[in-house]
Amino acid sequence: MTQIMQARAMCKSYGPVRVLENVDFELDEGEAHVVIGPNGAGKTTLFRCLSGETRIDSGTITLSGSDVTALEGWQRVKSGIGRSFQVARIFGGMSAFENLIIAIETRERNKNGLRFSLRHLAPRKAVLEEAERLIGELGLEHTSDDAAENLSHGDKKRLELAMSLALKPKLLMLDEPTAGMSPSDRAEAVRLISQVRDTYGLTLLLTEHDMEVVFGLATRLTVLHQGVIIASGQPEEVRADSRVREVYLGQH
Ligand SMILES: Nc1ncnc2c1ncn2[C@@H]1O[C@H](COP(=O)(O)OP(=O)(O)OP(=O)(O)O)[C@@H](O)[C@H]1O
Ligand SMILES: [Mg+2]
Repeated sequence: MTQIMQARAMCKSYGPVRVLENVDFELDEGEAHVVIGPNGAGKTTLFRCLSGETRIDSGTITLSGSDVTALEGWQRVKSGIGRSFQVARIFGGMSAFENLIIAIETRERNKNGLRFSLRHLAPRKAVLEEAERLIGELGLEHTSDDAAENLSHGDKKRLELAMSLALKPKLLMLDEPTAGMSPSDRAEAVRLISQVRDTYGLTLLLTEHDMEVVFGLATRLTVLHQGVIIASGQPEEVRADSRVREVYLGQH
């Protein structure tokens, strides 16, 4: 199995609060790795540290064998990380289509070492077609030209997923992709995430609170509790772990 990410002895504090405590973390190519843990366990912080949005205080992070500890988030995007956020980050005043054009153009200009600017934007046919294809794949056709800020919560999440895919990541990180969804929207989101995983051959890293979603997607499960990893392995093994049941699953 090829390892695409490896983190060693990560520590992160916010002021006096130690949020990650000596965390070792690995990600194998092709896995759907789900990180669970109670509110405040440090899951989003772990995501931020791995994606480069936040610096770790100590420890190392390697991506496909290269040390990226000192790289900024946008530089790690170039190394193949895409991510979505616990609260969707989209351009509210623009349509889903326009949001996608920006994501695709950003990728293309990054690739060519150019800075993205809206000023001279006249998207090529291939870019327009790719945006249309992503709209179709993610089931966003019905949003047509509505401003993204007026989309339903589920559609905003879909749009964010489409924008992440537009960057053509190898590794896709999704922080609570089904947060705030109804049970039926959740089931649909699991189907969609599995579908894009297969279509794009992605490695997935997710956090999630809903256990049906967790066990519906995970090929590997890691439990974070108060900034420490207390278990990691096959979902069924982790489910049976007595410490995990005590500190986490037992609460649900
Ligand atoms: N930017 C920040 N500044 C100060 N403290 C922070 C910051 N971000 C997170 N924390 C603290 O770090 C701890 C872990 O937060 P984090 O958001 O990583 O948890 P989480 O596991 O993602 O929780 P949830 O399940 O609620 O999303 C919490 O005590 C939180 O208050
Ligand atoms: Mg969180």
